[in-house]
Amino acid sequence: MLLEKLALHRFRSYHDIDLVFPSAGAYITGCNGSGKTNLLESIFFLANLSSFRTNNREELRNWDAAQGIVKATVADRYADRQSELAVQLSAGTRRLWLNGKETRETREFTSRFTAVAFHPGTLQVVRGGPAGRRYLIDRGITSLHPGFVRVSQDFQHVLKQRNSLLRTSTDTGFLAAWTERFITAAIQLMRARWRHAELLNSILSAELLQDLGSDIGTLSLDYRPAILAKCSTQQYERLLPTNGTDAPLREHFLAEAQRLQHAETAMGQTLFGPQRDDIAINFCGRESRGYASQGQQRLVVFLLVAALALGIQRQRGHRPVMLLDDIVSELDARNREIIFTFLKTHAFQTFITATEEREQFDDLNSLARFQVQRLNDQTTLRNDMPYAASCTH
Ligand SMILES: Nc1ncnc2c1ncn2[C@@H]1O[C@H](COP(=O)(O)OP(=O)(O)O)[C@@H](O)[C@H]1O
Ligand SMILES: [Mg+2]
Repeated sequence: MLLEKLALHRFRSYHDIDLVFPSAGAYITGCNGSGKTNLLESIFFLANLSSFRTNNREELRNWDAAQGIVKATVADRYADRQSELAVQLSAGTRRLWLNGKETRETREFTSRFTAVAFHPGTLQVVRGGPAGRRYLIDRGITSLHPGFVRVSQDFQHVLKQRNSLLRTSTDTGFLAAWTERFITAAIQLMRARWRHAELLNSILSAELLQDLGSDIGTLSLDYRPAILAKCSTQQYERLLPTNGTDAPLREHFLAEAQRLQHAETAMGQTLFGPQRDDIAINFCGRESRGYASQGQQRLVVFLLVAALALGIQRQRGHRPVMLLDDIVSELDARNREIIFTFLKTHAFQTFITATEEREQFDDLNSLARFQVQRLNDQTTLRNDMPYAASCTH
């Protein structure tokens, strides 16, 4: 997939810009707060219809505008297809256009363009609580299987209903019916997470880490469903893998529902299920949650994004665009080399932002170079500015 042209109208700090990108991508420099992340966010938003840094779509429109637009020409070389995509954002609404016609088919829209992102805001997932890791995994599954959005939404809906029932109703028959529905949705979600962790692990161990250098060590994901927390490895392997029947896992869920019945009614909330799962990230034989340094967190998140990009290429048959926001800061020379080796080897169209360390990118000369500047509260981009261009605010 290639992003050939991008036009932003009142998106975040951008008033009106029109950009053309080569197939290698672009290297975007600028001072802090100049609008680098805003640009990558617009590309990510076009592909995923969500942002990597906010759940509130209202933030994306320019503060002073009633309407914001992200418009692009994208190409899928494998399918030999070019598409015009546009998203219009106004208060409370989002409208989509595909090849000049308005559409409500979000799956069709998102199938035209795929992008994965490294964003520094994601770094806390390595050391922080499980919610961030669940989000990272679920986001990755959606990039691979756009239909997963429905699985995830169904699960959230059933969980909410069941919680509300636990707070307000004494009808045990009704609760039992919702428990059944909850278990069905939970098993679907768990199986998807399990499959995703397996896929990334196989790409990391069989391809990515070997190719990038044995000194990196090992990186793997260990999916830990809360419902199986007390199970032995044998039980885990009997219950979770996707080739068998759901029956033993359902029984396990039902036993848990029985065991927690009183506590759930007392607390008015569901106390078991994938809303409590964790995914341990094991780096060099240790769970990185406790110890990963800033640089290691960056490398780990990059490797997970890279594995996802390869997974998309393998399973969906097209190459996603890679958005790497502020990736090189705090990385030593070896870790930067690992990243550049990956980019050179796989040649995904790549958009990299950095403050001004342009000389590090000599190997990536085919990237278009843009300098982002902030002038009178608007962001502008200039192509091929000299390295020493100054900041204006
Ligand atoms: N909805 C918005 N409308 C106008 N400006 C915005 C909006 N959201 C963010 N900004 C501006 O964009 C700036 C951040 O830009 P960003 O792309 O994060 O900078 P950086 O170059 O450091 O990555 C903020 O300081 C803010 O001034
Ligand atoms: Mg930024």
